[in-house]
Amino acid sequence: MKVLFIGGTGNISTLVSRHCIERGIELHLLNRGTRKVEIPNARSIKGDISNFDKLESELARHHWDAVVDWIAFTEKDIERDIHLFRNNTRQFVFISSASAYQKPPSHPIITESTPLANPYWDYSRNKIACEERLNRAYRDEGFPVTIVRPSLTYDTVIPLPIGGWTEYTVVDRMKKGKEIIVHGDGTSLWVVTHAEDFAKGFVGLLGHQQAIGHAFHITSDEILTWNQIHQAVAEAAGCEPKIVHIASDFIVQSDPSLTGSLLGDKSLSVIFDNSKIKRFVPEFNATIPFKQGIRRTLAWFEADPARQIVRPETNDLIDRILRSYRH
Ligand SMILES: NC(=O)c1ccc[n+]([C@@H]2O[C@H](COP(=O)([O-])OP(=O)(O)OC[C@H]3O[C@@H](n4cnc5c(N)ncnc54)[C@H](OP(=O)(O)O)[C@@H]3O)[C@@H](O)[C@H]2O)c1
Repeated sequence: MKVLFIGGTGNISTLVSRHCIERGIELHLLNRGTRKVEIPNARSIKGDISNFDKLESELARHHWDAVVDWIAFTEKDIERDIHLFRNNTRQFVFISSASAYQKPPSHPIITESTPLANPYWDYSRNKIACEERLNRAYRDEGFPVTIVRPSLTYDTVIPLPIGGWTEYTVVDRMKKGKEIIVHGDGTSLWVVTHAEDFAKGFVGLLGHQQAIGHAFHITSDEILTWNQIHQAVAEAAGCEPKIVHIASDFIVQSDPSLTGSLLGDKSLSVIFDNSKIKRFVPEFNATIPFKQGIRRTLAWFEADPARQIVRPETNDLIDRILRSYRH
């Protein structure tokens, strides 16, 4: 198969790219080449997709078995992709988000038919608009779309909502014995998926003709509480976390920018029913427990001090929320 990834060297997509190469796929990666990520044997198309007019003639020379856009976030991005790939791909995969599922969920078990509605998060509403545009293109002109909705998926990010992700601030606080905030009472349920597990399901969808017109999530079946998730990160960092539980409502009053991520996502219990991806890709099985995967992630952060970004603004914010909570 000949496959194009727009992106392909990011947190989720790096391991998917490597998995594609292992499976013998001819993989072309379109990105700006700003990351120090090696994907041996992948072919590079260097460019910025936001200046797509410069790439149009290069892309028109190819015919793809599948194109995956890892970095489409708005309907405008999707209009561009439909225009670019209408006549030259047998499959177009849109990376949506599981945060698009109904929030709060009226039922905690999420299937692909759970309604899409998130009144709290623009990011999710934009992903929904992208899905709707693509479904229209599928219905009206047979545009061969497959939608994939990752839930919290990690490899080179720390999957914690306050002081984590591309920052190391929360781990630095844990190591220094400083207090960290866990939203709610830490007992709501969540699922964290290692990108290598995601890759196993995802690559099985590429070139899968029955997947056209369908949407999928691909997650671990390991269900954890947020207390357990924070505990596992601390254990991997070799320390005991000093957790302070604070209601999500209170946290977002102090930092409204967390509204989408907490009230529109991580404060709500979700359990993913993965039977659809297992039906379409029978070899898919997530095998990396969070306790194991997060050790790999922290080892990656620790391998290079430049990756251990501690932001004073984040520390100030956490301290400020803790102070006003106690007050
Ligand atoms: N991780 C999660 O928990 C999660 C959950 C739900 C949904 N998602 C979705 O997953 C996707 C993210 O995938 P990822 O983790 O692999 O991405 P990522 O870590 O954000 O990496 C972005 C990739 O796109 C390239 N890129 C960025 N801007 C570009 C531009 N203007 N032109 C060309 N290439 C560009 C980057 O390379 P260069 O910088 O070198 O160009 C890199 O390869 C998003 O759509 C997100 O909404 C993720």
